[in-house]
Amino acid sequence: MEPRRILLAISGGIAAYKAPELVRTLRRAGHEVRCMLTPEAERFVSGLSLQAVSGESVRRDLFDAGEEGEIDHIGLADWAELVVVAPATANLLAKMAHGLADDLVTAVLLATRAPILVAPAMNVNMWSHPATQANLEILRARGISRIGPDAGELACGWEGLGRMSDPAVIAEAAANQLVPSSLAGPRVLVTAGGTAEPIDAVRSVTNRSSGKMGFAIAAEAAHRGAQVTLVAGITGLPTPHGVDRIDVSTALQMRDAVLASFDDSTIVVKAAAVADFRPVNTSDRKIKKEQMAEGESMTLELVQNPDILQEISAKKGERTVVGFAAESHEVVAAAQRKLARKGCDLIVANDISRTDAGFEVDENAVLFVWPNGEVEELPLLPKAGVAAQLFDRIEKLREGR
Ligand code: PMT
Repeated sequence: MEPRRILLAISGGIAAYKAPELVRTLRRAGHEVRCMLTPEAERFVSGLSLQAVSGESVRRDLFDAGEEGEIDHIGLADWAELVVVAPATANLLAKMAHGLADDLVTAVLLATRAPILVAPAMNVNMWSHPATQANLEILRARGISRIGPDAGELACGWEGLGRMSDPAVIAEAAANQLVPSSLAGPRVLVTAGGTAEPIDAVRSVTNRSSGKMGFAIAAEAAHRGAQVTLVAGITGLPTPHGVDRIDVSTALQMRDAVLASFDDSTIVVKAAAVADFRPVNTSDRKIKKEQMAEGESMTLELVQNPDILQEISAKKGERTVVGFAAESHEVVAAAQRKLARKGCDLIVANDISRTDAGFEVDENAVLFVWPNGEVEELPLLPKAGVAAQLFDRIEKLREGR
C-alpha cells in the first residue's frame, strides 16, 4: 500500500501503553504517523516515547502557542488521511458522539474530514452501559468505524468485553479504511431524497424517497477521496462523514442548488426523486375544508417542473452525468427511453414495484443501462454496495478521458 498520513489519537485508559507498539506497526507498513494525546492519556503513556517511535513531535495542548505554531489543530485535522482513536475511552466516545471540543483531541476529531476508526477500551460494565451503546450507535450512523473491543481479562479485574484490540489488528483495520483515494481530486455532486411541492401551509405533493440511495452514493464518493456536495431533498438522514450538504425541499430549489454547484463538479449523480409537477397555486395559509361543501370535489392544477437532469446533461462537456430511473414496469425499455431523452452517460434503473428494493428500504436491485445498448443487471445489494458498483463503473468510464 502507498504510504498514507495517519493521526493517532490516544485517550486516557490503561490500554494507552500499547500506543507506541501501534505507532511502530503503522510505520513498519510505511505510513507517516503523528500522535495527539488527551491530558489523561499522558498519565499512561509518555509523549516522549511516542515522539521517539513516530519520529514526529507529539501534540497535547490546544492552547500551547509553541505547539500550535508548529502545526495548528486545524492543520493537523486537515493533514490526516485517517484518524485512529486508540484507546477510545467511554468518555471520549461520549464527547465524540455529542460534538464536544474541549481539548485538542476532541477539537481535531470534530474538525477533521478524514475517516475515523475507533478502538474502544474500558471496563465491561461501562461498555455495556446503555449510554455507551447509544453513543456508539450515534457514531456508527455517522460513518465512524470501530475495531473491538475484545473479550478477556480486563485491567480492572473484571472479565468480559472491553480489551482494546491488539495493535496488529488495529493496524490491519486501519489499512482496510485506507482504500486507494481513487477519486481524490474531482468534486462529485449527488442529489438525494424526494422533493415536496407545497399545496398550502401544511400539505404538499411528494413521494416516498427516503434519501438512502443518494446518501449511500455521497458516502461512497467521500470514502474514495472525492470532495462531495450532497443536495438533499426531504429526508431525516444524518450527513455522511466528509460530505458538504445543501438542504432543499422543492424541485425549483433543487435545480438552483444543482446549477450553483455544477460548474465545479466533475461527476454528477442524480439519485433524487424530483417531483415532475408542482401545484400552480399554493396558499401560504391552510386551506380549510369548511370552505367547501361536503362531497364537493377540488381540482389541483399542476405545472411541470424543469427537468434538471436533462438540463445539465445538455451542457455536461467532459463531466460524467448519471441519472436514476424509478420504473414500475418494462424497466429496461423505459430506462433506455429515459437515457436517450435526458442525454446522460448512464442510467441506473430500479424496479420500484419490488417491495425488497427501491424506495425506503436498505437494499436495491439495479440495472446499469448504457448508451451503447448494454444492460448490466446487479443482484439485490445493500445500497452502499450499489454505490460502490456504480463508482467502479464511473471510474472506468473516466479512465479513458
Ligand atoms: O431514496 P430511497 O428511498 O433510497 O429510494 C431510492 C430511489 C428509488 C428514489 C432511487 O433509487 C431512484 O430511483 N431515484 C430516481 C427517482 C426518479 O425520480 O426517477 P425518475 O424516473 O422520475 O427520474 C429520472 C431521473 O431524472 C432521475 O435521475 C431524477 O433525479 C431526474 N429528474 C427527474 C425529474 C426532474 N424534474 N428533474 C430531474 O432531474
